[in-house]
Amino acid sequence: MRIADFAVEIWMNRWETRCRYNLAETCVDSVTTEELLAIDGVDAAAFTAELLPMRLSYGEIEGSARLRAAIAALYETASADAVIVAHGAAGANALAYQALVEPGDVVIPMVPTYQQHSSIPESLGAEVRPLALREEDGWLPDTGELRRLAHGGAKVIAVVNPHNPTGSLLDERRLDDIVAIAREAGAWILADEVYRGLEQVEPVTSSSFVDRYERTVGIGSMSKAFSLAGLRLGWIVAPGEAHAAVNRHRDYSVISVGMVDDLLASIALEARDALLARNRGIVRENLAMLDAWVAAEPRISYVRPAAGTTALLRYDAALDAETVCLRLLETEGVLLTPGSAMDAEGYLRIGYANETAVLREGLARFSAFLATL
Ligand SMILES: Cc1ncc(COP(=O)(O)O)c(C=O)c1O
Repeated sequence: MRIADFAVEIWMNRWETRCRYNLAETCVDSVTTEELLAIDGVDAAAFTAELLPMRLSYGEIEGSARLRAAIAALYETASADAVIVAHGAAGANALAYQALVEPGDVVIPMVPTYQQHSSIPESLGAEVRPLALREEDGWLPDTGELRRLAHGGAKVIAVVNPHNPTGSLLDERRLDDIVAIAREAGAWILADEVYRGLEQVEPVTSSSFVDRYERTVGIGSMSKAFSLAGLRLGWIVAPGEAHAAVNRHRDYSVISVGMVDDLLASIALEARDALLARNRGIVRENLAMLDAWVAAEPRISYVRPAAGTTALLRYDAALDAETVCLRLLETEGVLLTPGSAMDAEGYLRIGYANETAVLREGLARFSAFLATL
C-alpha cells in the first residue's frame, strides 16, 4: 500500500539528535519514572513491589481494566468499555482510519494538520477534501466552508483540538457547528485530542467531542499533555460499531500494549491533576516567555496559541522555511520545524514546552540568527 512520506517525522528523525536547543519538540518536557512517582505521591518501594513480581504476559488484551477506567474518567460520558488502548496516538489514529475508511469515502481534515489525518485516509483510497485554516481567522476553521465540503455526505471529519501546529482551540460555537455539520453529513468526527489539558485559559481542560457527539472516535495519548511519550501509549474511545471495527483491525497489528507501560500510564492518570498541574505550569510559563520574545522580535509575528505546545511563527525574510531552519541549526544549534513539512510554507513551527532553560537560550540564539538576515 502506497503512502506519502511523513514529512515532520523525517525532519525530526534527521535532526533532533543533532541539535543543542530542541525547539521542535511537541511533548511537554518529559518526566522520569522517579519524577512521575514523586509527582503522583507514589512510594518507589511500593511501586517496585508491584512491578518486580509482575508476570510479563500480554496482559489484558484491550488494556487493563484499571487503565481503561482511568482513561474513561478523562471524559464526562465515556465508559471503560468504550476505551481501546493502542500504541501511542499514532497507532490509535492509524487504527481508527483503517476501521472507518473505505475507498471513495470523503474525509475532511483541517490543514495544516498532523499528517496522519490526510495521508492515511488518502492511502486507503479516500477522497481527501482539505479544509484550509487561515492565519487571519486565528487558525480556526471556517465552518461555512466545512459545511460546503461536507455537503452530500462525508465519512470522517478529522479535528485536531487543541491544534497542532497552530495552538488554536475551538470555541463553543465552532464545537457546536462542527457537530451539527457532522450530523447533517452522517459523518464520524475523528477527534485527535492529544493536547487536551494544556489550555492557556480557563476552563482548564477543554471540552471533548466524545462528550458532545455520539459518532465520535476520540483519540488521546500519554505523550503530550502527560509528558510520557516513552510509554508509547495512546487510546481510542469509540461507540459500538466503530469499537468493534477498531478491535477487528487491532487484533492484526497490536494484540496488546506493554504491561509495564500500562501500569505506569495507570499510575499517571490516577493522579492526573498533579501531573497536569506541572505540565500546565510549564506551557504557561514558557508561552509567556515566547510571547514576550515575539513582541520584541521585529521579524517574527504569530497568532498567540490558546492551548497545546506549538505555534506557527511567520518570519520576515525572503527565504523558504527549510533554508531558514537549516541555517539556524547550522549556525546556532537551534532546531525548529519548517512549515513546508506541514503544508505551511512561510512559517516555522516552534514547540515551546521543552525545558524552560532550553527555550530561553534557544530564543536568544534565534534572535542572534535573525539579526544576521
Ligand atoms: C495531533 C497529534 N496526534 C497524534 C500524535 C502522535 O502521538 P503519540 O506520541 O501518542 O503517538 C501527535 C504527535 O506529535 C500529534 O501531534
